[in-house]
Amino acid sequence: MVVPGSQEEKMFYPPDDLQMDAHVPDFNSYLQMYRKSIENPDAFWKEIADEFFWKKPATGSMLQYNFDVTKGSIYVKCMEGAKTNMCYNVLDRHVLKGNLGEKVAYYWEGNSPDQHLTVTYSQLLSQVCRCANVLKKMGVKKGERVSIYLPMIPELVITMLACARIGAVHSVVFAGFSSESLCERIIDAQSCVLVTADGVYRGEKLVNLKQIADEALQKCREKSENDEHGISGGDLDAVASVSNRLMWCVQTPWDSDCDVWWDEVMKDSPEECEPEWLDAEDPLFILYTSGSTGKPKGVLHTVAGYLLYTALTFKCVFDYHHDDVYWCTADIGWITGHSYIMYGPLANGASSVLFEGIPVHPHVGRLWEIIEKYKVTKFYTAPTAIRLLMKYGREPVQKYDLSSLRILGSVGEPINPEAWHWYHEVVGRGKCPIVDTFWQTETGGHVLAPLPAATPLKPGSATFPFFGIEPAILNEHGEELQGEAEGYLFIKTTTGCFLSGCRRDKDGYYWITGRIDDMLNVSGHLMSTAEVEAALMEHPAVAEAAVVSRPHQVKGECLYCFVTVKDCKEFNHTLMEELKRQVREKIGPIATPDFIQNAPALPKTRSGKIMRRILRQVARNERELGDVSSLTDPKVVEVLFSQRCEGAA
Ligand code: WT7
Repeated sequence: MVVPGSQEEKMFYPPDDLQMDAHVPDFNSYLQMYRKSIENPDAFWKEIADEFFWKKPATGSMLQYNFDVTKGSIYVKCMEGAKTNMCYNVLDRHVLKGNLGEKVAYYWEGNSPDQHLTVTYSQLLSQVCRCANVLKKMGVKKGERVSIYLPMIPELVITMLACARIGAVHSVVFAGFSSESLCERIIDAQSCVLVTADGVYRGEKLVNLKQIADEALQKCREKSENDEHGISGGDLDAVASVSNRLMWCVQTPWDSDCDVWWDEVMKDSPEECEPEWLDAEDPLFILYTSGSTGKPKGVLHTVAGYLLYTALTFKCVFDYHHDDVYWCTADIGWITGHSYIMYGPLANGASSVLFEGIPVHPHVGRLWEIIEKYKVTKFYTAPTAIRLLMKYGREPVQKYDLSSLRILGSVGEPINPEAWHWYHEVVGRGKCPIVDTFWQTETGGHVLAPLPAATPLKPGSATFPFFGIEPAILNEHGEELQGEAEGYLFIKTTTGCFLSGCRRDKDGYYWITGRIDDMLNVSGHLMSTAEVEAALMEHPAVAEAAVVSRPHQVKGECLYCFVTVKDCKEFNHTLMEELKRQVREKIGPIATPDFIQNAPALPKTRSGKIMRRILRQVARNERELGDVSSLTDPKVVEVLFSQRCEGAA
């Protein structure tokens, strides 16, 4: 890796004022720490672990990689022999030793701007203890699973931490999933309790969560009757529902055999609860991945490794300081929320915004209004949200005072340069570094990311590996490539190894080009759909674009593009020709699209990711769609099938 500085593209350097008191103040410090993390991981992680509380210290090394031939994978043991408790580390430790009891843990901002409240660390601790005692009373034991189907309200955080306190494994199901998806996840996790709410308003729309939960449980019962092996959610024996927030507008269905109201059981529950001391490698939670590539898959994270990694990435990547007000707009139902709304910020004693609503309700300036209201200093969101808000122009942003902002973050997919520059200039007034964080559910935390005071930025690149991460670029035959290269990114992390499409440029910067299935091979050239998408999106008429491959007799694969035009524009033949020319000019003739289809809307997962798997099926006219439970709006797909481009390729 070389110290960057000699490239033709424009680089964005860290602002001086950030460098003054940063944890990693310049690029050389990054290199030094990085080297130590690779050459002497034991010493490196020991220092990080010393900030936390261990009931019993580790007996062996801090990290131990094992190659398991039967599983065909690498797995890692972190701090074997140690005993600790996640909840103790993120709450009690701050209240008892850090003097942070009165500090705000969350500024909760409701769907409607007139609903808001603050929760301090000591308030959170006492609620968590009460909830932990409720769960215990319901019979939940260490190692058992609790499914949680709650919106973005403090009770979600409280329930998750209560599970962590008693050693139960939480399995959060995003409260936008259907009853079928919830049922599938309850059965897979074999949960014994489900915690839900009566309902939630998302924008103007009311979602009757309790009713969906009841349908899910009914499905679980039906499946358990048909299941000879008896493994099912039929074992679930209690449902706790949160609060009576919506009692005036929904008739909550009720089964007095197993349902209880949150407020009633919490009321008399004691405020003291000794944490369960767990082994470092005991499970903390299960989370299902967003399903953009097929059937949802449960990922399990364990206590010690996850604590150290989320705490350190949060501290360094957002250069966390005690007077920060931090806001991540993700939902806690996704890994981004688990790691960077809950565990990472809490492990550092941070104050965060917890937002129940959506970016466009009651108006399109809502996010900016909230930043002004709480004087948010670090803001973390997804490219899809930025592209959505870009459509409304600068005016709704410039109405608010965003001068508190110091660092902006991006996560979830590659950020196209258009969106990057808008985020940087309009939201960050050109003064805030953008940390483009690449990682996935399985890694639990950032694996490639700039450090805001240390790393010169190239728009669209997630830059360099975080501490402890050794990336390698491989070709199709699995051989490692050196220097400037494009191929498959292989990353060994504390939770296993992962592949993704990636390019490393001459300065050592990594450019994620997509998941493996987002790579395509046109006439022997490996290229990424993301590059082509970025080229399409530079056209002023294009609001969004998604590119997939389609088999081609001559080229092997060819490019099939879906393009959504901006509200005021028209999709026509001239535009198609312009777009083809633009891609040819930006990337080269090899990338000229064979097909460009008008897409009034794109199929997306509930976390906002474009479901390229489905687009590939539209391009190939394959109508058997398989599992579409994570799709927001199935109608979008019908429209795309009806308008697909015919013709041989
Ligand atoms: C996949 C993981 C990471 C938490 C949210 C999604 C893509 C994520 C980036 C980024 C380019 C990114 C990758 C990855 N991805 N962040 N900054 N640049 N691509 O978690 O659902 O497990 O998805 O999201 O393709 O493999 P996930």
